[in-house]
Amino acid sequence: MPLLRRTPPPDADGFYQTGIPAGEITAESLTRVKVSGQVVLLTRSGGSLVAFSSICPHAAADLSKGRFVRGQVKCPDHGYTFDVRTGRPTWPEDEVCRLKRFTAVEEAGLVKIRLTAPEGR
Ligand code: FES
Repeated sequence: MPLLRRTPPPDADGFYQTGIPAGEITAESLTRVKVSGQVVLLTRSGGSLVAFSSICPHAAADLSKGRFVRGQVKCPDHGYTFDVRTGRPTWPEDEVCRLKRFTAVEEAGLVKIRLTAPEGR
């Protein structure tokens, strides 16, 4: 995983410029970035950018230290797994907690993040 990167203040639409080239974000890995004090993990799903909090919704473990395989992140503390695209748990299936997701977009080849959930997903 690359070094943690920090971001400048948000633009008028609430997006933080990360300075990360969108081409660096792949479906096979997680990229960490610090946005307004929060550690955000970035990846791709179906070609789209996906962003979510590194804090596990179960008991606050650091998900960046877990495993990431085929669009699912596995928490290092209790083994819960989450679909990063939807935020829903895939194990245990009856769990109600959800990943905190954010809006990530590409502009001029760079990734921007807004700390609100993506619309329509
Ligand atoms: S803290 Fe992540 S599964 Fe418990």
